[in-house]
Amino acid sequence: MKKIGVLTSGGDAPGMNAAIRAVVRKAIYHDIEVYGIKYGYQGLIDGNIEKMELGSVGDIIQRGGTKLYSARCEEFKTEAGQQKGIEQLKKHDIDGLVVIGGDGSFRGAKKLTEKGYPCIGVPGTIDNDIPGTDFTIGFDTALNTIIEAIDKIRDTATSHERTYVVEVMGRDAGDLALWAGLADGAETIMVPERNEDFDDVVQRLKRGHDRGKKHSIIIVAEGVGSGFDFGQRIKEATDLETRVTVLGHTQRGGSPTAADRVLASRLGAKAVDILLAGKAGRMVGIQNNKLVDHDILEVLDQGHMLDMDMYKLSQELSI
Ligand code: F6P
Repeated sequence: MKKIGVLTSGGDAPGMNAAIRAVVRKAIYHDIEVYGIKYGYQGLIDGNIEKMELGSVGDIIQRGGTKLYSARCEEFKTEAGQQKGIEQLKKHDIDGLVVIGGDGSFRGAKKLTEKGYPCIGVPGTIDNDIPGTDFTIGFDTALNTIIEAIDKIRDTATSHERTYVVEVMGRDAGDLALWAGLADGAETIMVPERNEDFDDVVQRLKRGHDRGKKHSIIIVAEGVGSGFDFGQRIKEATDLETRVTVLGHTQRGGSPTAADRVLASRLGAKAVDILLAGKAGRMVGIQNNKLVDHDILEVLDQGHMLDMDMYKLSQELSI
């Protein structure tokens, strides 16, 4: 292997830059040339590919977003799109590809691998919804962004004795909602993996209010439904003064936390190591603080599992 490519795809995540840096530096350390592919799979199809030098990844470890830009690419889901991508890789003599992204990006890597092209996936998504790794790059930063916001909301909720509904990201995964709820002592956490009974939520709020609780925080993952609709229903059912905050894409930006920078550096370097060792169709991850790699196809088939013990604990602590 003489030349490798790297791309970021799907929703960006803080720490992706640190992962790109690790891939580039680790490869050059081993005398391998690295090519950056801009705009994810779209850039691969379009041949938006350029050589990366040591200096090209200087001063990015602390930056959010991705230096290589990102995109969601419908065309790459087709046979024709994947074929165009492989042709571009061959044209540039690139022998292997590191894909930094989430579930959708891994599906693209899986397709390339099935077609005989060696790919390694690095889990980068704020959703923390990739099986085979305890954490994905960006989750810790997004979580801390949410915590900071909710701490501020709690101040004003206390002053005005209001109920707040806070909508956080997570279309299919409730990790951000659950971890933020536990870290912030939210009264109720609504995740897509569980069908929480609305009447139970209302009863819990009323019980708290009768006990003298003057304000409450309810965290709703976007996959459960609109925070605004939910806030309206709460208001109608309880008559409590209710406000809604949707944190939206603030959760995707910002300087990565130390934990995300370290994780991204370790995973990016590991991806290069296993590509050079001749492995393909693998994803790298971290489990019990040990770097691991798994068959990307098997992992994707497993599906994401929310930690139900943690969910139960959050309920026990918010009685
Ligand atoms: O997958 C990351 C994520 O931020 C999800 O939490 C969210 O549902 C989605 O991306 C939003 O995507 P977009 O930025 O394309 O609207």
